[in-house]
Amino acid sequence: MKIIPGPSSTELGRKIAEILGVETVSVAHKKFPDGESYIRLESEVAGEEVAIVQSTGPPQDTNLIQLFILADAAKDLGAKRVIAVVPYLAYARQDKRFLPGEAISIQTIGKLLKASGIDELITVNIHQEKVLEKFEIPAKNLSAAGLLASYFKSKGLESAFASAPDEGRTEFVMEASKVLGGGYGWLHKERDLYTGEIRTEERTLDVSGKDVIIFDDIISTGGTMANAVKIFKEQGARRVFAACVHPLMIGNAKEKILQNGAEEIVGTDSVPSNVTVVSLAPLIAEELARRIKG
Ligand code: R5P
Repeated sequence: MKIIPGPSSTELGRKIAEILGVETVSVAHKKFPDGESYIRLESEVAGEEVAIVQSTGPPQDTNLIQLFILADAAKDLGAKRVIAVVPYLAYARQDKRFLPGEAISIQTIGKLLKASGIDELITVNIHQEKVLEKFEIPAKNLSAAGLLASYFKSKGLESAFASAPDEGRTEFVMEASKVLGGGYGWLHKERDLYTGEIRTEERTLDVSGKDVIIFDDIISTGGTMANAVKIFKEQGARRVFAACVHPLMIGNAKEKILQNGAEEIVGTDSVPSNVTVVSLAPLIAEELARRIKG
């Protein structure tokens, strides 16, 4: 197997290759003056199984088109199998028609992955795993819950309460709680479909005097996490930490969450950001190693 670190995930791709002890294929890339992407694979892929590592955080559309071009080029240059490692899969939140006439964007992405020659997808904590069932290529969803929880454990937070801002992350916090051992629970959140405004319900959880870690898949504008931090602080939590797999960190997301009382925000390198602390490389390398062993 050879690893192709895509332009959006160069460092993560190289780390994965280093753990696996396999070669990387460097990618030369640039933007033409009109905004189009140029891609060139700088070494041979003919006859190889390749894993393209290309997360699709902002700018999502550029990162997606680069992924499609890379996959198509690899196949065209003779790669025998193409695995796309896309830790953050853009458009996954638009997974149904919330309002009449809406596009189900993730369905389109699924079709384009197959059309560009990708044989298999590996992603991490996709917003709703069930969308993968409709993809026409095999897709594996890994979970970074253990990695994030272990990070906090190594910082002395071994009996922290694992929580989530809404019911969407229940499995995640249960998994994290197995590492932390301090109990778990979640809040309830509603989002206005027209304005995007969030309302978090103040469910009372037994957090008084405890350290609380709030886990979410994505921090985008930070609104969801900031609300949850505020609620746990008001409920008497000793310290509140914020963690996510995909730190999109749009605008002043970081400040918003810290201003509401979070001690620290911890994200992974799924999307390189100002809160990236934990690397997904060991998790992804372990999964790819299974394919190398056959
Ligand atoms: C949505 O349900 C996700 O799990 C996240 O909670 C959401 O995407 C975070 O968005 P924001 O940071 O803009 O509130």
